[in-house]
Formats: sequence, structure tokens, C-alpha cells
Amino acid sequence: MHEDREVAKWIELSERYLMPTYRRYPLLLVRGRGTRVWDDKGREFLDFGAGIAVCNLGHCHPKVAKAIQDQAITLLHVSNLYHILPQIQLAQLLVEHTFAHKVFFCNSGAEANEAAIKLARLYARRFMGKERFEIITMEGSFHGRTMMTMSATGQEKVRRGFEPLPQGFTHVPFGDIKALKRAINPKTCGVMLEVVQGEGGVVVPPNGYIQEVEGLCKEKGLLFMLDEVQTGMGRLGTLLGHERFGVTPHIATLAKGLGGGVAIGALLATEDVAKAFEPGTHASTFGGNPLACAAGKAVMEVMTQPGFLDDVKEKGEYFLGRLKALASYKGCIKDARGVGLMLALELNRPAAPVIADLMEKGFLTIPSGERVVRFLPPLIVEREEIDLLLDALNEVL
Ligand SMILES: Cc1ncc(COP(=O)(O)O)c(C=O)c1O
Repeated sequence: MHEDREVAKWIELSERYLMPTYRRYPLLLVRGRGTRVWDDKGREFLDFGAGIAVCNLGHCHPKVAKAIQDQAITLLHVSNLYHILPQIQLAQLLVEHTFAHKVFFCNSGAEANEAAIKLARLYARRFMGKERFEIITMEGSFHGRTMMTMSATGQEKVRRGFEPLPQGFTHVPFGDIKALKRAINPKTCGVMLEVVQGEGGVVVPPNGYIQEVEGLCKEKGLLFMLDEVQTGMGRLGTLLGHERFGVTPHIATLAKGLGGGVAIGALLATEDVAKAFEPGTHASTFGGNPLACAAGKAVMEVMTQPGFLDDVKEKGEYFLGRLKALASYKGCIKDARGVGLMLALELNRPAAPVIADLMEKGFLTIPSGERVVRFLPPLIVEREEIDLLLDALNEVL
């Protein structure tokens, strides 16, 4: 355990040596277990952020930790020039439990989306005609911080200062099917979206919208591409978020929750679309490495246990019900919304002080824009822990 003085020293060193890309809370988290994390002073926090939807099975899940330990003393890295056992096993699990026939592994959400865009362009060039390369994405979306995924992202604040950005994206309002229809042109090859926008503020589309987008893609012969980096891996109470909407994409991307805390991303596609990739068209040195895939395999084995996802769905409904009840008598709450365990309160005032007060009371939550407090607990969260958060929210608000 550290004294206050020592904590201040670490924070000072953090600011001295690290590039200033993050506005960090003055908190040094050193240990985690299940839904809880502890700071260096031994203070305990209930984690309703899960590393921004990464630790979906909680911190240091025993099965994930064991898989990593075993793999660490067996084989850490070999090149994709060879077949990799945990990679094959994880791909098989993903194919058996999703719409996909083929998987490509990488290391992050942005990389998975980058791969998805490359696959869409190759597919379009080869099978839809040379002039098709444009992808329609949504205003308010977030797809990553590489040049290409930033360009795909429908948030000006993310893109500002990096121009000129790569071409090939048109943004339309999320939830507006007419605007999407109008935006389709002879250059369009696909539509890419999140089924619930995460970084945009947990924005749930109007009823029927996702199905209409799928229908429109089918009708116009376009690729239906889903960024499931945040909504995937059980977050919405189904393994992939789109299952809740009864749709089937051609392409979907995963990252965040897939490795249980270890960096991994995946591009999933149908057989027909995946055939556009061939040796030499895409690669990653670390993508699909034995360590990350062993972790991913353990995550998949836990999440596909009977009842696991139904439990997430039920807890999500309970949590949302309690947030809505709170909203009914707290005038400062504009909206309580979300799907599964991806939930949020939109306030009529800045969210930052609320997040700070909750932290003071031992709860970690995540901001989303100026006025939204986001709740992304580990999927193993207990109802009693949700109640504790609601009591704290009641006091703080
Ligand atoms: C929907 C979505 N796509 C892509 C990303 C980028 O993922 P990464 O930070 O792993 O590159 C994020 C990250 O928040 C995300 O929420």
C-alpha cells in the first residue's frame, strides 16, 4: 500500500513520461478481481466500466488467467507463416457460434475495422465493379483512431486536425433510413454501423431501423457491415449484438471483450465475402498470436455456457428498469437507455462531476460525450451490485 506522497509521485512520472493523449483520473489501479478493482492505497471500487467494455468476464477471470498462464509457458509467439493451434481453436468457436464462416485475427478494434474496410474494398473491386469503393457510415459513430477508421468515424471532434483524411466514406444520420437511401450511389459498396452506438453516447436506434438497413443492403446488393467492437462478446445479452435485432451481416468486427483483457481483434465474414482476401492482401505480425487466442478461447468457452447470456439479458433489463425508475423522479436525468449491459443516463448537465462523485463513493463509470454517464459493468455483475450503484446514484444526483 502506498502513501499519498508516493501516489502523487507516480502520477507526476506518468505525466512526465507518457504522451498527453489521455485526460486521466488521479487514480492508480493496481489489482482487479471479478467486478472489483483496487487502487494502490487499497481502496476498493466496483467497476461499472470494465476497462470500457473489455473485462466482460470480470477482472482476472480464473479460466482466462489459467489459459494465459498455461500458454505463457507453452508457446508465446510463432509467425502466421505456420498454423497456430489456439488460433484455429478460437476461429472454430467463433464460426460455430456466429454467422461467420471465416475469421481474420488482429490486435484491436481499429485494426479489425481497418481490415473490414480493406476486405469490403477488395470484394467490391473484384465482384461488384471497379467503381464501387465508398462505405456509408453513421453520424455519431466511432470506429477507431487509425487514419482510415477515423475517416469512417462520424464525429468531427475525432477527425479534426488530421486532414487530409483518406477518402471513401459518406456519413448519414443514425436511425434515418431515408437519409441512408438517399446517400446510396453508384460508388457505394457497403454500409457500416454499430447496432447500438457506444462512444456516441449509447444511442439505441429506432425500432426496426437495423432490420431496414439490412433489407436495403440486400435490395441494393451492398455489404452489410457491423462494428461489434463494443456491442459484441455478450455485451447486449447475445454473443454478438446484432442477434438481438434478428439480422445477419456479411462482415462484423470484434475486439474489446474477446480477449478478456488481452489485446485481440477479429474480422468475421461470410464465406463468399472472405474469398476476396488471398495470400498477400492482408496480414499482422501479432494477429492471432497463441497467447491472445488462448485467452479468447477461454472467454468463448465461458460465454457459450448455457444460461450465461440469458442471465446478462435479464440483468440488463433489471438494471435499465432501475435507471428508468430513477429517471422518473430525478429532474436532472433526460434519458435512461441502452440494451443488455450497455446502459447510460443522459443528464441535463455535465456528467463529469457525477462521475467524480461516484468515484469518491467507490464506483467507476465512464463518460460518453459531455452529458452521458455510461455503465458497462462486467457481465458477471450481481443484482446486489447494481442496487449498490443505484443507491449511490440516487445520493449523487
Ligand atoms: C464501436 C467501436 N469500434 C472501434 C473501436 C476502436 O477500438 P480500439 O480502441 O481497440 O482500436 C471502439 C473503441 O472504443 C469502439 O467502441
